[in-house]
Amino acid sequence: MTEAELYSQYKGVYLPKIAHSPESLKYFEEFTFRTDDIIIVTYPKSGTTWMQEIVPLIQNEGDMASVLTLPNWDRVPWLEETRALELNLDQRPSPRIFVSHFQYSMMPKSFYKVKPKVIYVMRNPKDVLTSSFHYHGMVTFLVNPGTVDEFLAKFLSGQARSRPAPFLTSCLLPCVGILDLKESVSKIAHFMGKSLSEEVSAKIADHCTFKNMKQNKMSNYSLVPEEIMDQKKSEFLRKGIIGDWKNFFTDAQTECFDAVYEERMKDVKLTFVWDLN
Ligand code: A3P
Repeated sequence: MTEAELYSQYKGVYLPKIAHSPESLKYFEEFTFRTDDIIIVTYPKSGTTWMQEIVPLIQNEGDMASVLTLPNWDRVPWLEETRALELNLDQRPSPRIFVSHFQYSMMPKSFYKVKPKVIYVMRNPKDVLTSSFHYHGMVTFLVNPGTVDEFLAKFLSGQARSRPAPFLTSCLLPCVGILDLKESVSKIAHFMGKSLSEEVSAKIADHCTFKNMKQNKMSNYSLVPEEIMDQKKSEFLRKGIIGDWKNFFTDAQTECFDAVYEERMKDVKLTFVWDLN
């Protein structure tokens, strides 16, 4: 199917029609946050599903019930998606946990007033592109990625999915690198105001390893019908590694990506962990 058939444009961002309707976008725009809400914000393929596992486990102090019984999209729903309309989010007890792929400037009015807690997840954009390429090839609600060169051009022009979200300048969980999972669980818990024992942090970290999350049918997207997501083409929890882009990009593609990245990031006075390698 073509882009025009699959996507709508909203505030300059391409959205898959299957997940967003005028009603769901209106719901998002009018959403009323509570101060103690937690919103996880990610660019797609940066580790959304991972956070949908880690954050509720921290909130529930290691109690596995929610991650083993609720699919990730109901456990930590996307605020801007149609599913949010069915979940009676205003009835959920505090602290509520949501996720969004939207940019800072796209947040509802109440977000700026109430200032809920934001956990913004970043991943090396080249790994995001690599993951995204495989994802576009296995789901039917996104346009087929074409060749890597074609996808690279689309990704860099913002036509693959929503544009990179400039949340950076506004609200940030002070850099937690998911390099040491147990340490990251403790840092995120601290940000959430939760004090976890060593034992609970270790239990959460163990459950949230790539290998273990792959076994959790509430998080590995095996509940989604094959006509929508064909995991025989590429698994949702595909590789879960840092640096897979090196197996994927040619030298020419790396050069092209780096030139655009450098230009776009020239005013961002931050060094990211991937800039160091
Ligand atoms: P890969 O395709 O590189 O494997 P999102 O949830 O935002 O769509 O991101 C999906 C990416 O996060 C996939 O990357 C997936 O494997 C990775 N991921 C999810 N859970 C993970 C975990 N527990 N450990 C490492 N990577 C994980």
